[in-house]
Amino acid sequence: MLVLGIETTCDETAAAVVERHDDGRAAILANVVLSQIAEHAAFGGVVPEIAARAHVEALDLIIATAMADAGRDFGVLDGVAAAAGPGLIGGVIVGLTTAKAIAIVHEKPLIAVNHLEAHALTARLTDGTPFPYCLFLASGGHTQIVAVRGIGDYVRLGTTRDDAIGEAFDKTAKLLGLGYPGGPRVEQEAASGDRGRFILPRPMIGRHDADFSLSGLKTALRLEAEKIAPLTNQDVADLCASFQLAVVEMIVDRLCQGLRIFRQRFGAPSALVAAGGVAANRAIRDALQEVALQDQVALVVPPPSLCTDNAAMIAWAGAERLAHGLRDTLHAAPRARWPLDQVTKPVVAESAPSVVTAPVTTDVASAAPSEVASPNSAHSGTASSVVA
Ligand code: KG4
Ligand code: ZN
Repeated sequence: MLVLGIETTCDETAAAVVERHDDGRAAILANVVLSQIAEHAAFGGVVPEIAARAHVEALDLIIATAMADAGRDFGVLDGVAAAAGPGLIGGVIVGLTTAKAIAIVHEKPLIAVNHLEAHALTARLTDGTPFPYCLFLASGGHTQIVAVRGIGDYVRLGTTRDDAIGEAFDKTAKLLGLGYPGGPRVEQEAASGDRGRFILPRPMIGRHDADFSLSGLKTALRLEAEKIAPLTNQDVADLCASFQLAVVEMIVDRLCQGLRIFRQRFGAPSALVAAGGVAANRAIRDALQEVALQDQVALVVPPPSLCTDNAAMIAWAGAERLAHGLRDTLHAAPRARWPLDQVTKPVVAESAPSVVTAPVTTDVASAAPSEVASPNSAHSGTASSVVA
């Protein structure tokens, strides 16, 4: 099954061609990502209107490049998948409309993919991870612990009560004058800092739920910075290191709770899986390793370039949905809000996809949205390959 994927929900214009074999194995034939960091850097974050216009200008070339890299024509595709949300609506419209045009012209099925579902299924693209698994999704707009039980079958076990983790990294960078994108800059500074110099709070630690909260930490960091202003380079490095350590310790505690709740409700997970741009952070990856060891569960962390936004994950999610008989009509709506638990499910169990004889047509426009994608989240493409 050969699927073209298109990603335009934030500040990466991306297209990829992915092949899914009948036994579930995957091959990425092309994966092209154009980061818009340069367009947004002067504004200290993603400007939605600039992002949408940049997607319009770049997308045709990015798709053509992906098809050329894969050495395939549109005619041999089995489907065209686009991220239909959640995300910045102008960009989502550009990607989904382009996918619809390709689907109409070449008479291919359209798959309107939920961007979060694509992050959630990436571990199956990279490692063939079997269901059910415990997902830690941490990006610029989302921080969630999710039980991934099958295609379209997601149960949220924990979430953030205020800022997303990536957003907290981005705001910390902005406060300390490190620029955009924030996450990689804070990590870089933290490497030469003293992480014990500032005692910052570890919100939520010790609670029985699996929720996160970042706003108190962010405020505490600002107060510490104000106390010692003007900041030297070493002050900035020490603040970054202390902030990163607080985040890491919170993640370890919250994931232990998440895994406990997972086992209570669904039995043993096949793995702890990380996804989203924040998982590109080395200290956080090491912390996940510590949790996995403590909990005696396998750890799957896709390579950084597949943790940050990309189209290979969109193509893969499209292929997985198509393989389970799921496709969408040309009425599929672009959505700024689209919680993971409102994604449509196949009508048959994952263990018996072969009994599907007729494709099930889903129309995501009919589902009611209830979660807001953060328009301020500065998504970054640190590990992306850039096409001029
Ligand atoms: O998944 P992603 O590429 O885009 C979405 O938000 O969907 O994630 C981007 C987020 C940004 O907030 C960025 O600062 C954060 O991931 N991030 C990092 C690192 N690399 C990216 N946060 C901490 N450390 C990093 N190395
Ligand atoms: Zn993302």
